[in-house]
Parts: sequence; C-alpha cells; structure tokens
Amino acid sequence: MFLKLYLFNHANYKKNDLMNILENLNWRYATKRMNGEQVANEKINTILEAIRLAPSSMGLQPYKVLVVKDKAIREKIKEVSYNQPQITESAYLLVFAVWKDGYEEKTENFIQLIAKTRNQPLESLQDYKNRVLGFFSIVDKVSWASRQAYIALGFGLTTCAMLKVDSTPMEGFVNEDLDKLLELDKLGLKSVVMMAIGNRDETKDYLTALPKVRRAEKDLYIYL
Ligand SMILES: Cc1cc2nc3c(=O)[nH]c(=O)nc-3n(C[C@H](O)[C@H](O)[C@H](O)COP(=O)(O)O)c2cc1C
Repeated sequence: MFLKLYLFNHANYKKNDLMNILENLNWRYATKRMNGEQVANEKINTILEAIRLAPSSMGLQPYKVLVVKDKAIREKIKEVSYNQPQITESAYLLVFAVWKDGYEEKTENFIQLIAKTRNQPLESLQDYKNRVLGFFSIVDKVSWASRQAYIALGFGLTTCAMLKVDSTPMEGFVNEDLDKLLELDKLGLKSVVMMAIGNRDETKDYLTALPKVRRAEKDLYIYL
C-alpha cells in the first residue's frame, strides 16, 4: 500500500514538474516594458548563482558579468542602446563582457584554482594547461569567449523563467560606445550581450498578450 502510494506520488510529482518547466518557459518572453519594481534579493542571488554555475569550454568562464543597479549608470547605458526602455525600467541590468586579452595569465590563474579546489598538484595539470594554451594560439579568442558568455546568458534567462522573474536578452546596443562608457578597456574586457531583469508592465507591453512564435517541432529537429 505504502509502495503504491509512493509510486503514485512520485510519478505525479514528476509529471507536474515537467509541466511547470514548459509553462514557465512559455510564460517568459523578451520583455519590452518593465514596471520599475524591485526583484527580491534571494531571487537575484539565485539568478547570479545560476550564471556562475553555467558550463564553459574548458571551464575557463572567460567573461565577467557587470551587475548594474545604479539608475544613473543605466540612464547612460540606455543612450547607447537605442533608448530601449527595459534598461532603466528593469531592477537590474547585467552586462556580459568577455576577456579581451591576458589569456595566458588567466589560464595560469585557472589552473591554480583547479589545483586548490581539487587539492591536486600543479604538475598534474601541466598537460592540460599546455592544451589550453595551444588552443588559444590558433583560435579567435574573443569569438570563442563570446560563445561561452551566451551560455551563461541562457542559464540566467532560464533561471529567471523558473522564478517567474521577467528578463530581456539584449544585443541592441553599440558595443564600442558601451565599452567606453563603462571603461571596460581598463578591465581588459569587451561587452557582448546584456540582460535586463525585472517585472513586466502588462499595461504598456504589447507583447505580454501575444502568443509565442516558434517554428514547429518538425522544422526544428532532425531525428536520426
Ligand atoms: C542574443 C539576443 C539578443 C536580443 N536582443 C534584443 C534587444 O536588444 N532588445 C529586445 O527587445 N529584444 C532582444 N532580443 C529578444 C528576441 O527578439 C526574442 O528573444 C525573440 O524574438 C523570441 O521571442 P521571446 O524571447 O519573447 O520568446 C534578443 C534575443 C537574443 C537571444
């Protein structure tokens, strides 16, 4: 009897879980207008932690994320972002910026971090370090780093959806102007993408009521 009840509950729980995931992903959309209200600290912290936990090629996380709450800074960012209102109507704006240079030194730091975290001798990581440096000698590093930043962005967007927090992924800004404004050059960084986090304003956002536009499953997947 107990086993039956357990199996029933377990199966039910899983089904609800799956439904919730898709419901939340359907609920999210690239929010155009936000209402300026705050997002609870614990939710923001969870979103930031999810971004920190995102995977990246070789584990290097070759980017930094600027967490911009300051309204005056966001007003200036808006000016180099085609005046998109989410930038100032959101509670937070994240700027994903990739390493521009210093890859060798940063690889060395990363190798030390692995050694410390996993209590491993540095010598045992020498081959790995050489492989990473060999890869960097042939690849377009900034383009590679940007792809990693987009994975982190995806983690952030998905976590927002699961927490019923609104968000907007944003490439609509002039990268060079934003880099200048935030003095990213001094930090050895280059902006690639932004993410606004906040709460939708249903009275102003025409997109709130519109259904999602997505290609049909048969047009997206190729099953082999
Ligand atoms: C990398 C990227 C950049 C985007 N840039 C902007 C942007 O600058 N401003 C904006 O309002 N939406 C932007 N979008 C939102 C897309 O237009 C939107 O995700 C797409 O139309 C699908 O709609 P949905 O996200 O609302 O489901 C961007 C999306 C991505 C993934």
